[in-house]
Amino acid sequence: MSFLSEDLRQKIIAELPKYPTKQAVTLPALHHVQDVLRCVPLEAIKEIAEILELHPAEVHDTMSFYGFFRDPEHKLGKNRLQVCRSLSCMLRGGEELLAELCQKYHLQPGDTTPDGKFTLEFAECLGACEGAPCMLINDECHVCLTTETASEAIEKLSS
Ligand code: FES
Repeated sequence: MSFLSEDLRQKIIAELPKYPTKQAVTLPALHHVQDVLRCVPLEAIKEIAEILELHPAEVHDTMSFYGFFRDPEHKLGKNRLQVCRSLSCMLRGGEELLAELCQKYHLQPGDTTPDGKFTLEFAECLGACEGAPCMLINDECHVCLTTETASEAIEKLSS
């Protein structure tokens, strides 16, 4: 019996024709798994390797190269919030924004709220420097934030 759901396996398999090699599907496969499971467990690494005909160590190497992926002990919350701390955002209060949000929600960067509602992290340039300071909430970039507008966006998140 598979650890990954049939739906997840099919999503990974559907990536194969889009890439020149099976190995190149490692990254999208990891993203699919993390999107659904909020982390990448060892069993998932083994099954991705099996689908892509790779050694599990190769999948694990790719996973650990990117700071983006989480192991089961550091599972993502339902929503992922990433506050930019690169230059433009830093100059326009990005670091203070992150610090204030951490203080408000009693979190350290990288932590998840006890109810699992969201994980708060820092990020490098989100490509929206003209809207500094900005924050990615899941896939949506919020710009020109203040602690108030960032908090409003956070409060609107489903739990
Ligand atoms: S520096 Fe923050 S989006 Fe570019």
